[in-house]
Formats: sequence, C-alpha cells, structure tokens
Amino acid sequence: GIVILDFGSQYTQLIARRIRELHIYSEILPYNTPVEEILKHNPKGIIFSGGPASVYEKDAPKPDERVYDLGLPILGICYGLQLITHHFGGEVVKADKHEYGRAEIQVLNHEDLFYEIPEFTHVWMSHADKVVKLPQGFEVLARSFNAPYAAVRNKEKKIWGVQFHPEVSHTLLGKEILKNFAVRICGCKQDWTMGNFLMEEIVKIRQTVGNKKAICALSGGVDSSVAAVLVHNAIGDNLTCIFVDNGLLRKGEREQVEKTFRDNFHIPLIVVDARERFLNALKGITDPEQKRKIIGNLFIEVFEEEAKKLKDVEFLVQGTLYPDVIESVSVKGPSAVIKTHHNVGGLPERMNLKLIEPLRELFKDEVRELGKELGLPDEIIYRQPFPGPGLAIRVIGEVTQESLDILREADAIVLEEIKKAGLYKDLWQSFAVLLPIHTVGVMGDYRTYEKVIAVRAVESSDGMTADWARLPYDLLDTIMRRIINEVKGVNRVVYDISSKPPATIEWE
Ligand code: XMP
Repeated sequence: GIVILDFGSQYTQLIARRIRELHIYSEILPYNTPVEEILKHNPKGIIFSGGPASVYEKDAPKPDERVYDLGLPILGICYGLQLITHHFGGEVVKADKHEYGRAEIQVLNHEDLFYEIPEFTHVWMSHADKVVKLPQGFEVLARSFNAPYAAVRNKEKKIWGVQFHPEVSHTLLGKEILKNFAVRICGCKQDWTMGNFLMEEIVKIRQTVGNKKAICALSGGVDSSVAAVLVHNAIGDNLTCIFVDNGLLRKGEREQVEKTFRDNFHIPLIVVDARERFLNALKGITDPEQKRKIIGNLFIEVFEEEAKKLKDVEFLVQGTLYPDVIESVSVKGPSAVIKTHHNVGGLPERMNLKLIEPLRELFKDEVRELGKELGLPDEIIYRQPFPGPGLAIRVIGEVTQESLDILREADAIVLEEIKKAGLYKDLWQSFAVLLPIHTVGVMGDYRTYEKVIAVRAVESSDGMTADWARLPYDLLDTIMRRIINEVKGVNRVVYDISSKPPATIEWE
C-alpha cells in the first residue's frame, strides 16, 4: 500500500481515504517516523501530506532524510512539495497573498502523474508559501496562473510534487491523479476490499486470543456493535458483551440492543441495570463537565464490577477508529479541551486487560461497510452518533427521573418524524434538549407554566464543524404539535439555529 507521512494538514485523513477508495491500502504515520519503521509497513510509495508550517521556520517538521534514498516513489502535496524543493536546494518563498480556492492548471506533461488528464483542469489550492525556483533535476509538469510550479517531478529520483490538493473533492480529477501515482507510478494493485480485510482480521484475532476470553463494552452505537460482531465471528462465545443501562438512553435503545445481539446474533450479552445508581450520582449536579466525569467514572466502576464476575477474561474489545488513533500521533499539539469525551478510557490498564481494536485501521464509512458485510441491521449501521453521557447532557441543569422521561418522549418524537420524512441518514444528529426554564402558555382556557424543548438538527461530516439543518417548516410544525400534545409538561418548542462554531452540537 501507500504510506502517508502526516505533516499536520487538515486534509491528511482525506488522502488516506481517497487511496483506500481506489481499493489500495494506505496508512498515516507521523512525519518523523524513522525509515526502519516506514519499511515495516511495506509501502510501494510514500506521500508527504500538506501542513501549516513554513519550510524555512526553525522547527519546520521534516521527515527522516533517509526517506529520499529508499528508492520508493514519493509524492509531496503542498507543504510536502515545498519540503522536497527546499531539501534539494530549490527556493520557497512566502507568497504576497495566500492562494486559497479553485484554480485552473495547465498540464504540460502527461507521461505519468497526469496520464489521461486533460490539458486544462480545476484544482484546489490552499497555500501561503510557494516554490519559485526548482532544484536541479526537477522539471515542471503543470502550471497555474499563480503557481508556475503547480506540479513537478524528478524522474530519476522518483519524486513528484503538487502545490494543489488532489485529495479534496474540489480538485476535479484529484482521484485520477492519486490513482496515477499509486497505480501507474508505484505499481499498487487495486485489490484491497472489506471482504479481504474481514478475513484477515478474523484470522489475526483468532491467533491473538486463541482459547482465552474477551469482553466488550457494547453501547449500541455502530463502532462497538461492529467490533463485537466481528470478534464474535472470530472467537465465538468466548466473547461476552456487557451493556450498561445507565438510564440515560433514548427510547427503546436497550430493547434494540437485546434484540440484535442476544436474539439475532446469539452473542452472550449481560445487561446491567444501573439506572438508579446513575440517577443518584447525578443528584444535584448541574455543571456539564462534572456530569461527564461522574458518568464516565461510574461507567467504569459498573463495568469493572460486572467484568470481574466473569472468570479468566484477558482481552477487552474496543471499537476505536482510525481517526482516534491518528489524533493521538499527529503533529498537532493537544488542542484545548472544550469538552471531555470519556468513554472507556483507562479501563484496560486498570483491569489489566489486553486490548483488541479490530477497527483501528478503518474510517467511519468503512466501518459501516464492514457492518453491512457482517449483517448488522441498518438501524445500527446508520445510527446517528450519541454521546457517552447520553441524555444527561441534554437535560440542561439537574438530571431527574421526571426530566429524563420528558426528554426521552420528546426526543423519540423528533427522531420518529425525521425518519418518517426520510431525512435521518442525511443528518449528522437530530435530537431534543430539555431546558431548565418554565414559560407561560395557554391551553384551552387555561394558563400553563411549563418546560421548553429545543430541537437540534445538524449537518456535518465529522462533528468538528456543523451547520443547522434547514428542516422543512412543515416538519418542524409537526414535531412541535406532537411534542406539545403528547408530552406532558411541555408547552413550548424552539428550533436551535446555531452553527458550530461558535456553538457546539450538544448544549452541554
Ligand atoms: P460537540 O457538542 O462538542 O459534540 O459539538 C461533537 C460530537 O461529539 C459528541 N459528544 C460526545 N461524545 N462523549 C461522547 O462520546 C461525550 O462526552 C460527548 N460530548 C459530545 C456529540 O454528540 C457530537 O457528535
């Protein structure tokens, strides 16, 4: 496959995805990975990602210099191109203005990287520095109005570089360009499929676990569900799943998990009813971060107690995805904690368990594909993300049984109507939030003084940024009517039209 060295670009993961979409395996490694380590991944080619740095800065991230001597084809993207230029003695300068957006390039050489790409095509540029002088042995493959060296190569050294970003969809033929690199230049075969991945993974897990026992914390979300079914395929009933009902779940969630895993997949499943414990622990708590901490810690406590009842468990299955793995290795410093997302952090160390993370090389959409391959129902595969602390961070203020019941009913109506309208899969998330205030209303001849439900529906591709969904007015109207008529204690419904940033998706 292809190894991508990550120099901190926001697009690094996209490069890996594009390559995988070509059915070629690709992995992201930190920019300074030693060549010995790179070679362990058996790459046929290497891509340098873009990045926010300038090559002439003192601490500019640089790769292990021996990477240039491996004889493997290299493609530098944006900062990657500038690095290569700088390394081989060319010149990179700060451009007068940041070039950002669509640009047209003229292809001058169609031999390899631009094989079958038309002479003029649109690409996506996003750079402040640019190459003004090529090092010796390099030639121009394409130019743009602003960048005379939009694409270059050194045929002898097998090095290519592009100033634009072939990995983003705004580059019209980006995928073809990446394919030319991976297939024509590096000689990769396009034979990486989910079916193959599944078979290899099952064999690996069998070898690792043997006849030992494993447990899995099942949340009902797509990641832990796919991980559980996959591992069950590999080791059968030596896997036990534990599902904690913390009382902060949505309507029907626990029943669905029981039906799917116990009845359909026949996976040993323990359902722990910890509703009271969570409710007690949350009594009087209004601070969002405190709620998260309490819920996270209590989850670990409950899970641990339950797991200890099982004998001889040595492995813990987790549905960690590739983006989580990369986030922990990337060059970007730790970003400020906006909200702590804990799920099962710290569990393996505490319980002295070895981790099995069968999804740690996959992106979300690949996990969905795998889920389909494994026969999981659509309701799980396409389930919108749901935060670990559940409804507790959607009841603003103190969490009580009564407020949870109100919210759960209102939330079920939101989801039901959105599904009915055929919009569920298009939305990143859609849910109800219960506000801690009362407002005045009138019902029949009576004055009411009741709670407010806020409806939140957002579009997003990764949860990092989001925009409020332009739901049809009639749909909002139906949701409002049903909530006020069917949910006792609510007399007002509002729609949240904040984007992220500056707001976040959840209210707490
Ligand atoms: P925010 O509210 O930060 O949410 O815009 C971004 C995404 O993360 C989810 N989220 C959480 N997930 N534990 C989780 O597992 C948490 O504590 C948590 N808080 C937010 C949120 O639902 C959205 O998808």
